[in-house]
Amino acid sequence: MSKHLAIILGTRPEIIKCAPVILQAPKQHIDVSIIHTGQHYSRELDGIFFQELNVPEPRAHVHVGSHAASIQIGLMIQRVADVLDTMRPDAVLVQGDTNSVLAGALAATKMGIPIAHLEAGLRSDDWSMPEEANRVLADRISRWLFCPTTLQKERLHQEGITNGIYVVGNTAVDSALHYAKIAYEKSDIAERLGIAEKPFGLLTMHRPSNVDDPQRLQDILRALGQASDRLGLTVIFPIHPRTARAIDRAHLKIPSSFLGTEPLGYLDLLRLQSSAELILTDSGGIQEEACTLRIPCVTLRPNTERPETLEVGSNVLCDSTDADVLCRAMESQIKKERNWANPFGDGKTAEHVVRILANEMKV
Ligand code: UD1
Repeated sequence: MSKHLAIILGTRPEIIKCAPVILQAPKQHIDVSIIHTGQHYSRELDGIFFQELNVPEPRAHVHVGSHAASIQIGLMIQRVADVLDTMRPDAVLVQGDTNSVLAGALAATKMGIPIAHLEAGLRSDDWSMPEEANRVLADRISRWLFCPTTLQKERLHQEGITNGIYVVGNTAVDSALHYAKIAYEKSDIAERLGIAEKPFGLLTMHRPSNVDDPQRLQDILRALGQASDRLGLTVIFPIHPRTARAIDRAHLKIPSSFLGTEPLGYLDLLRLQSSAELILTDSGGIQEEACTLRIPCVTLRPNTERPETLEVGSNVLCDSTDADVLCRAMESQIKKERNWANPFGDGKTAEHVVRILANEMKV
């Protein structure tokens, strides 16, 4: 008899990182139902990822949409609970640290459904980030805690969580390695943007701490513009809707060395990441992808919940809006030898996760 796993997701990084588990599960006789919260709903943040990653359409979609966080989480809990009540899965899986993760985990725990948390134990210790509370709370109530590296296992131990922890790597690696090959065949983004033969940097930025305050956003854009001019880099900048709205509202200008685009699909983004001189980002997943694809990264934050990337040298933190400081960080990363070991595994994380769930889920 098949076991039934409900995967609750709502944003683009969750689709990317759950895809390997969704595709692997049938091989171990696990039937997967995707429950989509609707946290992301635009085609370029959502639909395109299902298509490109070949992930089946959600069995249930609760269409919550954008709201203030507490309203959004409340609506998600209520609507996901209704779906779980009818669906009655044997377990629920959530991935990462978004509002969809917290809401999905809370709905499941109150109904007595065991939770698997993929990417458990990450901590930034920065409670001004909405993700930190989401991570900590989801870990506390999960039955299976799938940690990318031993660092998270140790952290969970310090917090008094000792059962159900498995160190399995990160499915970001499974996806990046698998789909990067497909991206080289299918994506012509570098040609479309006219940068196939040119050195370029890739910038993504969407964290509230960088984009919600117009002064901070203006200062970062100006400093990044000056630094990339000095380094002779064109910067491709796929603009997240949150950032686009902030730029429009404050009537900010994008530096002349930047090539702004709509948010990109996974294959186009992987294609650009793989051939960039340097990646500039405040995303968590992109720090892992840069490390996996051996492209040096500068993270535009004062901290990271992925310190392994700092240890291996694939990544440095730079929170400064001073062009000199940014330029030095970018230059030293560009010169870096790209021979670091990948701390996040060998691309077989989903196999480990699915095998463990197949052995341990109770029907
Ligand atoms: C969310 C996650 C963040 C993750 C990011 C990936 C939380 C707290 N944050 O941030 O961890 O890194 O997703 O993108 O869960 N919008 C659209 N179309 C959409 C969705 C959103 O235009 O499909 C716009 C809306 O104006 C919305 C804003 O983007 O208000 C922010 O969206 P939201 O989902 O609240 O947070 P993200 O910044 O995407």
